[in-house]
Amino acid sequence: MSLPSRRRFLKYCLASTAALAAPVRTQLNPESLAKYVDPLPLLPVAKSTGMRAVPGKPGLRAPYYKLAMREIRSQVHRDLPATRLWGYESSSPGPTIETRSGQGVLIEWVNQLPDRHFLPIDHHLHGAEADKPEVRAVVHVHGAKAPPESDGYPEDWYVPGQSRTYYYPNGQEAAALWYHDHAMGINRLNLYAGLLGFYIVRDDFEDRLNLPTGRYEIPLVICDRFLLADGQLDYPVSPKPDAPWVPEVFGNAMLVNGKLFSYLDVEARLYRFRLLNGANGRFFRLSLSNDQTFHQIGTDQGLLGAPVPATKIVVAPGERADLVIDFSAHAGERIVLQSDTFELMQFRVGKAGPSAARSLPAVLRPEPQIAESSAVKTRELPIYEFKDDRGESITMLLAGMHWDMPITEKPVIDTVEIWSIVNLTEDTHPIHLHLVRFRILDRRPFDDFHYLNSRTIRYTGNAIPPEPYEAGWKDTVRANPMMVTRFIVKFEGFPGRYVWHCHVLEHEDNEMMRPYEVVRA
Ligand code: C2O
Ligand code: CU
Ligand code: CU
Repeated sequence: MSLPSRRRFLKYCLASTAALAAPVRTQLNPESLAKYVDPLPLLPVAKSTGMRAVPGKPGLRAPYYKLAMREIRSQVHRDLPATRLWGYESSSPGPTIETRSGQGVLIEWVNQLPDRHFLPIDHHLHGAEADKPEVRAVVHVHGAKAPPESDGYPEDWYVPGQSRTYYYPNGQEAAALWYHDHAMGINRLNLYAGLLGFYIVRDDFEDRLNLPTGRYEIPLVICDRFLLADGQLDYPVSPKPDAPWVPEVFGNAMLVNGKLFSYLDVEARLYRFRLLNGANGRFFRLSLSNDQTFHQIGTDQGLLGAPVPATKIVVAPGERADLVIDFSAHAGERIVLQSDTFELMQFRVGKAGPSAARSLPAVLRPEPQIAESSAVKTRELPIYEFKDDRGESITMLLAGMHWDMPITEKPVIDTVEIWSIVNLTEDTHPIHLHLVRFRILDRRPFDDFHYLNSRTIRYTGNAIPPEPYEAGWKDTVRANPMMVTRFIVKFEGFPGRYVWHCHVLEHEDNEMMRPYEVVRA
């Protein structure tokens, strides 16, 4: 395998570099807004309209849902005009889909978006060429063990006026999954516009744990954005007008369930928060303003072996954290959920409710184990970054391959593999595989210079085990810079074509995504 020629990337540098007069856009400084004047929006729950026959599965019926992608207006703060967003039905984040393990659902995803995009498309990106329709969409349920034809393959996009009906068998354990757009080359824009929502799987095992439920269990979607003074979304652009792609977006307006600086009245008792980092590129480092300890009880693909106490957790784009916060010793206090210096939302703790006596079980779900010796294959997958003459990031590639090169990862169904992500870049990349769940084995520093010269790994330090809160089932793993990150995965589910990619959406849209294929034995 050889590094792809740098010439492939010259088109980016050669694109007009003349900085044309940018249109005047006054950005909003979110700190100028009144804090904690809006209540936290509780996400609506999707309603099935009845049972329908599952296509291609004679005799099988499943609850049917119809969810339309639409342009909506939503006030993200009391003192701002309504923001134009794209959501599902009438909200962004869209309605939460509540499902049970083993009970499949049919969802018709309808594209009712307008014909024009309102965010800056870069026609140089693969799949977003000028001959493609501006508005394209396809829905993927992140973390779902779904058949390939229902997984939302990035090239399976469709235009306004069309719809697709996908079947999700839900043959998996209780977990907080999420649905979001996955259209090739404009995914970052479609998510930034608001096309995301929760998809929660429940099961009997979890029910027996007696965790906080009903109004004591609250899904939270956290995203960062830039807003203009008139409340509209602002997506940053490069200085090249015809090649507006930027390598990263870190907004200064923190939306929780679509609101800035909202508050939630809570009782002095245990609460469960199903938290999703739905940001394009920001890693949230979450803590509470009173530094109190909370517990992480689950990760991407479900419950941990036991609750992990923490005062600060890191959640990368695409990752979920299942958190339990005990407010019982804090009646009357106001506690802010924060990420570094950003304030996200406020909890206003009232009195203890009548049913406050619950405590957290000491043991949750047995820790998953896959023996390393059961792996039939180890794949070494380097991440390369290409920069232009000014040192600006142009493209990051998985295994040195572009999206449209032949499929190289072809695991055999029901076999176990170890994937070693060799990160030669200065960034952490949250690496996500569709279809499967995996366990992180370790992260280990290596000599990058040696690797670039010899394509062999020379370790320079000891292997570091995953953090306790990463020890459960994952579908997204932080591949840290200058580290080899290893995970072990059994390719269960369905043969067919899926994708794996970095979940920093700007990277994903610019070639940091590859197809992979689960093949029959
Ligand atoms: Cu969150 Cu390819 O997915
Ligand atoms: Cu996914
Ligand atoms: Cu990345």
